[in-house]
This record gives sequence, structure tokens and C-alpha cells, in this order.
Amino acid sequence: MSAKILSGTETAKTIREELTVEVAELKDKHNVVPGLVTILVGEDPASQSYVTAKNKTAKALGINSEQVTLPVDTNEEDLLALVEKYNNDAAVNGILVQLPLPKHVNEAKVLDSIDPNKDVDGFHPVNVGNMVLGEKCFLPCTPHGILELLQRSGTETSGAEVVIVGRSNIVGKPIANLMLQKREGGNATVTLCHTRTKDLAFHTKRADILIAAVGVPKVITGDMVKEGVVVIDVGVNRIGKAESGKAILAGDVDFDAIKEKAAAITPVPGGVGPMTITMLMKNTVQAAKMANGLL
Ligand SMILES: NC(=O)c1ccc[n+]([C@@H]2O[C@H](COP(=O)([O-])OP(=O)(O)OC[C@H]3O[C@@H](n4cnc5c(N)ncnc54)[C@H](OP(=O)(O)O)[C@@H]3O)[C@@H](O)[C@H]2O)c1
Repeated sequence: MSAKILSGTETAKTIREELTVEVAELKDKHNVVPGLVTILVGEDPASQSYVTAKNKTAKALGINSEQVTLPVDTNEEDLLALVEKYNNDAAVNGILVQLPLPKHVNEAKVLDSIDPNKDVDGFHPVNVGNMVLGEKCFLPCTPHGILELLQRSGTETSGAEVVIVGRSNIVGKPIANLMLQKREGGNATVTLCHTRTKDLAFHTKRADILIAAVGVPKVITGDMVKEGVVVIDVGVNRIGKAESGKAILAGDVDFDAIKEKAAAITPVPGGVGPMTITMLMKNTVQAAKMANGLL
């Protein structure tokens, strides 16, 4: 069997087309233009490329997007003051502080300072709490993108054995939570694995849906999955440089081996990555609607 490729690029394109229509309607009918601000501290090349991609996508959809880049030695007080300024700016619906922040800045304190109604990354404790309770909130972008990919590809989650490898706050923990919610796209039986898991392969082999968010290239090998599994590979690992200077990327799963056994699999690149950015746009449009009493 050769797996169906779950293309995040294609699914993201469809969602972006839907959002473009939604943004145009907001402007035509309500004179509302969603506004997004991204704040980058320092010059980390990966963070720079993520922020640039987010702004480019926002602009392409008709969202007002502002990119603020601060020097790496920016102090916490100044960063908090900037967030506060945007918290009070009615034209700004979404505030995104690109992580990681430099070590001298308390990341949690900065994330907590963002108005939960503008927290389009879905990292504020209020949004995390509401997510766990199954209440209305901004869902974190990568897990949200995974849900959309699964739903739009017609993957049945109800009653499925979902095994997640990785327990980070931005991917593993929230996707585990969302998959077990009592609602469409959830209702799964969830196992969450990490470095202390005894016999990782025992768990991964049971998976109907396997989600890898590990950060170790090809750590999930062909012999660790069963026939017919649906694999979502969140990993983005830079494993070298092409002659062009472009980074060569690999996922957390051994794509070539697993695609022969899986029913469906996301590629890296072109899988979860484009979905993450698109969900940020979806959250920004949602924030603009909420701020204008339209949701
Ligand atoms: N495509 C996207 O949009 C997107 C978004 C976010 C992240 N990513 C990528 O996804 C990957 C994971 O990122 P993250 O931020 O979630 O990761 P993270 O914070 O680095 O956490 C990695 C998790 O994997 C676990 N782990 C590491 N090695 C393991 C092993 N050999 N066996 C079992 N578990 C292991 C760790 O366990 P412990 O907790 O025990 O240490 C930890 O829970 C990275 O490659 C990142 O670049 C992609």
C-alpha cells in the first residue's frame, strides 16, 4: 500500500480562499478590516522566516498586518509596554509574540500580558483553560491545523486510538486534549508519549492515528507503526543545507518507510506547517468578528 498524501499546502489553500471571501465580506458589509501585529525580538533566522511568512499570508488575505522587529537586548518592561499599547489599540485584533524569546525575558509573563481576546496564538492561560473545558476560545494554531487536516480528509476520530509523541505546551498537550473532547473531530482514545515512556513502539504500533511532535528527525521508523495508520508529522528538523543554501528539512517520522504501510501521511515540508499559519489567520478573523460583535 502507498499512503494517500495529506497535503497541508492544498488544504491550507482551500481554507485561505474561504478566509479571503470572509475578509472581503467583513469589509463590504461591516467596514471591518482584521488587524494583526507580530512582534519579533532578535534575529533568529527560523523565527524571522516564520514571522515573514505570517505577515505575507495575512496581507494576501486582506488582513492589515504589521511586523515589529525589536533588538535582541530589548528588556522585558519595554516588551510588556508594547503589548499593552496593542492591547489598547482597537485596530489591532490579534497580537502574536514570536517564540522563543531571548532568555532574559520571562516568556510566560509576556504571553500572560496579551489580552485573551487578542491572543490569536491561543497560548494565554485563559484560552488554554477554555480549550480544556471545551468552551469557546482561540485554539492554538498547530493543533487547530491538525484537527482541520484530519476533518477535511475525512479521517474518523471517534473511537480511534490516537497516539501522540511529544508533550509540549504548543503541540502535544493541546492536541491530546482536543482529540479527547466530546465533539465532532474528537471522541478519540488518547495516549500521550514522551521521553519517559517505556517501550514507545508498543504504543505507536497500536495507533490508528499517530501524531509525532518530537523534534528528532525520523525517530518514528517503519517498524513502529501498523498497516493503515494515519500519520500526522509535526516535526520540522533542519538536517542539512542544499547547494542553494536552503535548509533541507525532515520530519519526525521516516516518511519513505512509513508511506508504504500508512493509509495517509503528511509530508514535511507541505504538511502541518502551512496549516499552522492558516489557522493563525482564521483566529485573527475570528478575533475581528468578536471585537465587532459579529460572533
Ligand atoms: N509545523 C509546525 O507548524 C510546527 C509547530 C510547532 C512545532 N513544530 C515542530 O514540531 C517538533 C516538536 O516541537 P515542540 O515544540 O512540540 O517540541 P518540544 O517542546 O521540543 O518537545 C518535544 C517533545 O518530544 C518528546 N521527545 C523528545 N525525544 C523523544 C523520544 N526519543 N521519544 C519520545 N518522546 C520524545 C519530549 O519529551 P519530554 O517532555 O519528556 O522531554 C517532548 O515532550 C519540532 O520539530 C518543531 O520544530 C512544527
